[in-house]
Amino acid sequence: MTPAERVAWLRGEITRHNEAYFIHDTPNIPDADYDVLVRELRMLEAEYPELRDADSVSEQVGARDATLFQEVVHAEAMLSLDNVFDAHELRQWVGRVAKGLGEDVETLSFAIEPKIDGLALSITYVNGALYQAATRGDGQVGEDVSENVRTIRNVPARLPGVAGGRLEVRGEVFLARDDFHELNRRQRAQGAKEFANPRNAAAGSLRQKDPRVSAQRPLSFLAYQLVDVAGTLTFSKYLDTIRQLVDWGFLTAHETRLEVGADAMVARSDWYEVHRHDFRYDIDGVVIKIDDLAQRERLGFTSRAPRWAIARKFPPEERTTRLLAIEVSIGRTGRATPFAVLEPVVVAGSIVSLATLHNQDQVAAKDVRPGDLVIVRKAGDVIPEVVSAVVEPGRRRAKKWTFPTKCPDCGQPLERSDDESDTYCVNPACPAQLLQQIVHFASRGALDIEGLGEQRVAQLIAEGLVSDVADLFSLRVEDLAVLEGLGELSATSLVREIEKAKSTPLSRVLVGLGVRHVGPVAARELATRFRSYAALARAPLEELEALDGVGPVIAQSVYQYCREAESRERIARFVTAGLSLIEPEGGRVLEATLEGKAVVVTGSLEGYSRDEAEAAIVARGGTSPGSVSKKTYCVVVGEAPGASKLIRAEELGTPRVGASEFEALLRTGTWTSTLA
Ligand code: IVH
Repeated sequence: MTPAERVAWLRGEITRHNEAYFIHDTPNIPDADYDVLVRELRMLEAEYPELRDADSVSEQVGARDATLFQEVVHAEAMLSLDNVFDAHELRQWVGRVAKGLGEDVETLSFAIEPKIDGLALSITYVNGALYQAATRGDGQVGEDVSENVRTIRNVPARLPGVAGGRLEVRGEVFLARDDFHELNRRQRAQGAKEFANPRNAAAGSLRQKDPRVSAQRPLSFLAYQLVDVAGTLTFSKYLDTIRQLVDWGFLTAHETRLEVGADAMVARSDWYEVHRHDFRYDIDGVVIKIDDLAQRERLGFTSRAPRWAIARKFPPEERTTRLLAIEVSIGRTGRATPFAVLEPVVVAGSIVSLATLHNQDQVAAKDVRPGDLVIVRKAGDVIPEVVSAVVEPGRRRAKKWTFPTKCPDCGQPLERSDDESDTYCVNPACPAQLLQQIVHFASRGALDIEGLGEQRVAQLIAEGLVSDVADLFSLRVEDLAVLEGLGELSATSLVREIEKAKSTPLSRVLVGLGVRHVGPVAARELATRFRSYAALARAPLEELEALDGVGPVIAQSVYQYCREAESRERIARFVTAGLSLIEPEGGRVLEATLEGKAVVVTGSLEGYSRDEAEAAIVARGGTSPGSVSKKTYCVVVGEAPGASKLIRAEELGTPRVGASEFEALLRTGTWTSTLA
């Protein structure tokens, strides 16, 4: 493709996406992918001046709205913001601003505020009364949505104490996250279409023909600009105008801070990135604005954006990539989980090549097919998921993907009961299930048998040495020593490890058995109450249900497990092999070094999965919540920790302990040094 062809193609794509986003309120692709297209177009236009065009989409702000409403010509253009994507680019912007002003970077004052992911609105007040409200449109001409805006509860109809003049208040119309979920619940209940995200819902709600419909939608307005149309106001600082807006009764971003100098400003914008999920509404970045209005005046505007402000966009949590295949994995309970094999893509800062598709219904609803371009999302701590397919006009798609009817591993039929969304392989002899069960049984949170990782277990199964967890206890050195990669020495140490595991306390054996719904907390409760497996197995259902932290679902599951022929046989073999199946009284085998203490783990710890680390803490009397609070004892910081937990710990003064101290923490309940 020649540069000219590429430019033409980019303009076509961007125009198509603009229409979808601004006119139909249904974006085709994630904002981040859109930004990539615009960036490339701008770069090419800069590199090849002959390809520039005053009418290029790169020069446009938004798009003309569909003609549902009266047109409004803005008294002052509603511009967009230029974007930067990291701290380095942000500093470059600051450098340009300082140079433009002929001032030292360190003397500049910046207001730093959230970039709300909603839609821009300009509200005109004449003689202090709401006169008209308009959408941004293409920046010059917007739509008159006055009647709908009058129904937004937090938009003042009158500005107290303002008797004359004409001014405009600009800001963002949005739906708070809670309100968005509530709206979608209502849509669902009425059999109406659900909205894809809060922004679309806000856009759809604001541009309703019938204001009574808008009135039913929980829209909010957040103000961030006061436009002095008549030229009568005398503010010299942006933050003073914001205070005025607050006095008039407008909602503004109370997190907004004034910082002096580049370092403080960049640090504050980092803070927003860390706290991006803590806002009531979706934010997709942070906006940095020069506070001094005289300096703003001197800097002025480009054709599409002010030079005195910039948007720092956060690393995208949604990206598009190619779906290579859909596969199904079988877990230790037999659950069949469909997942996507993807062309690797960086999402929220890490490379993603696999993403979950949750279950059969979700794949069907999303109708994603191998070969499709798909949107992948990874937000916060959650596992990556496929959101939807991207429409690619003119492209032939593969035929609809259907959920397999047979287990990909053992070939037996998969089953799904009517009232469940999950599908299961119910073959008790399925090797995939068996593999996961044994790996789980031997894991740190359970019997903690060193040397029994996934590969070794797969080998033992393939060699026909184990077909149940109970078989582990009859493995002999001479059987193992002949296996590939295992000599006499390793075989002996593996057998010794297995021998040692026989005295594992009951609570961890219960975790290892993988009884449905029984996690480390319930297992400990059951074990400390009954002390032995024999007593637990005899307990009536009501007694199980009455326990703290157990409840009917877990109780039923345990009750049933103890009565199944297969588990009875397994337990009988455990007893013959010499497993204690006892929870030692008082002083447990594991000392309760963390009794009553909340230990938060962030990032990965070598040798522990997330569940194992939690189980290890719980096994010592502690808890392992997912977030840091005032009650947190300490935060263990592993590889690639979550920034929000670190910052929260710092804010609260919670000790942060290195991963290398985790073992010592478990053993002694304390640590030798904290992280700086
Ligand atoms: S200031 C002339 N401040 O982001 C500059 N805009 O991508 C006026 N936005 O068009 C905009 N939060 O719709 C500003 N705190 C904030 C914002 C914000 C969200 C929107 C606004 C703007 C778009 C640019």
